[in-house]
Amino acid sequence: MALVSSRTIDPDALRQPVSAVAGTGRCRVAVIGAGAAGLCAARHLIARGVDVVVYELGSCIGGLWVFGNDNGLAPAYQSLHLNSEARVTAYRDFPFPDGGPLYPDHRQVRSYLEDYAEKFNVKPRIRFRSRVVDIAPLPGDRWRVKLEDGGGGDFDAVVVGSGHQGSPSHPGWRKDFSGEYLHSHSYRIPEPFRGKRVLVVGMGNSAVDIASDICVVTESTTISARSPVLVMPRMLFGVPTSRVLGRLERNWMPWPVRRTIREVLTRIVHGRMEQWGFTTPKSRTHPTSHPSLMSHFVWDRIKAKPGIESVKGQEVRFADGTMQTFDTVIAGTGYNVDLPFLAPELRPLEGHKLELFLRVVHPTRRGLYFIGLFNVAGGGNIRMMDDQAEWITDLVTGEIAPPDAATMRAVMEEEQAFLRKHYPAAPRYALELDPAFYRKQLRRERRQARMRRARQAAPAAQAGQ
Ligand SMILES: Cc1cc2nc3c(=O)[nH]c(=O)nc-3n(C[C@H](O)[C@H](O)[C@H](O)COP(=O)(O)OP(=O)(O)OC[C@H]3O[C@@H](n4cnc5c(N)ncnc54)[C@H](O)[C@@H]3O)c2cc1C
Ligand SMILES: NC(=O)c1ccc[n+]([C@@H]2O[C@H](COP(=O)([O-])OP(=O)(O)OC[C@H]3O[C@@H](n4cnc5c(N)ncnc54)[C@H](OP(=O)(O)O)[C@@H]3O)[C@@H](O)[C@H]2O)c1
Repeated sequence: MALVSSRTIDPDALRQPVSAVAGTGRCRVAVIGAGAAGLCAARHLIARGVDVVVYELGSCIGGLWVFGNDNGLAPAYQSLHLNSEARVTAYRDFPFPDGGPLYPDHRQVRSYLEDYAEKFNVKPRIRFRSRVVDIAPLPGDRWRVKLEDGGGGDFDAVVVGSGHQGSPSHPGWRKDFSGEYLHSHSYRIPEPFRGKRVLVVGMGNSAVDIASDICVVTESTTISARSPVLVMPRMLFGVPTSRVLGRLERNWMPWPVRRTIREVLTRIVHGRMEQWGFTTPKSRTHPTSHPSLMSHFVWDRIKAKPGIESVKGQEVRFADGTMQTFDTVIAGTGYNVDLPFLAPELRPLEGHKLELFLRVVHPTRRGLYFIGLFNVAGGGNIRMMDDQAEWITDLVTGEIAPPDAATMRAVMEEEQAFLRKHYPAAPRYALELDPAFYRKQLRRERRQARMRRARQAAPAAQAGQ
């Protein structure tokens, strides 16, 4: 069958339910990835009778939570724990086992995901060691998925759940540093850094986890923060801080009020950020927290520096004019979204800006969906996948259809405006997702889709009378 040009767009066809185009028979959907996102998409689709094939690059379930995953993409280190509380992270109807820790470690998350795949009958649908190398449109708005080994198949729809934390983003000065350099993605255990002078770059959760991990064996550990950061306490009054915030904060509260609440709570436990060499943010930032990071500052095991001005040999000059020599740099500088199996014109990215309707629907290609392209700002990413997977299933089964292209554009612009207003412009925030704002948008769209369907059904019913 000939492939159609990926530029061919039929705006009306976009709004047809996928299963209608599939014609007779069962709708067939390919899901890419057996991580938290792909498993969730598969589970919801299977439950509604869709014929699902899950292609997984590695030989196991769990994606980035698998320590030493042979997919070569997983950043899990030995000390990795969830940093969002288990009960708010879990899929909606599948809690972590009773009696487990507040913040399970990577082994427990992996086995949780395996149990999920088992319970919801996803496991038999997974084709392991199957690297997807191409997803291309076919005539009739179907899709051809090609595997590296030459296999694959044709589908009515594709759900991409290949993750976004497998492709490290490196700082521009990397080549100027002559000492040992690695990205947090390759970090596993502290031992190789024993006795070394280590600079950890960034103040995201990877950087603070790793700095806290290695500082007990290094000669010195320095952490560089180029932007303001609020390191929230992990626990307050003996419970996770997120629970306390849940009691104090309301969605209607203006950001300055919420920021003040967070600042006050943080100050009670950690003092002012400036006291430790950081700057307190005024805008929203992606939450950083660690149960022992600030204790290491108290013990002088970690020192803070501002951003990096220049690097030459093993010497690093910081924005405050000071210079320091390091044996090793660990860049906790985040990730790029990498979708190498999609032709450039199908990739839903413009620079770092995500071009998807409600993060899920390709705005010009019917039957191409994405799941998990977000970093939830405070809350569970895995739980949010349930919301997306339910909606994808409604779209795939033809229960509801997306709106017209202009409406999709308007909603995408509304989200971009929200991000521009509330978050810094750094690439890191391209996938940031405010759960309250997003769920409100999603609820509105699903309601409107049902109304559109009712309006379409009414004349048809009258015509049939
Ligand atoms: C270190 C770290 C800690 C985190 N901690 C938390 C936390 O505490 N709480 C939280 O809610 N979120 C956390 N997250 C966010 C994380 O995004 C989610 O928890 C979630 O596990 C991501 O699942 P995923 O399925 O989107 O991606 P992944 O887990 O990366 O899974 C993607 C899967 O797709 C497969 N794949 C990729 N390319 C191909 C291909 N070409 N062909 C076939 N298969 C392919 C991969 O092999 C992989 O199995 C963390 C992220 C990181 C990096
Ligand atoms: N334990 C856990 O559960 C855990 C552990 C690790 C990660 N995670 C999650 O995984 C996701 C990724 O986290 P991450 O920490 O790897 O990445 P991240 O959140 O994107 O943070 C990257 C950090 O590096 C800085 N940075 C980026 N480019 C830089 C450059 N060129 N020079 C200097 N600094 C630079 C950023 O500063 P700016 O703000 O200035 O851009 C930021 O402080 C997040 O959602 C995070 O919550 C969770």
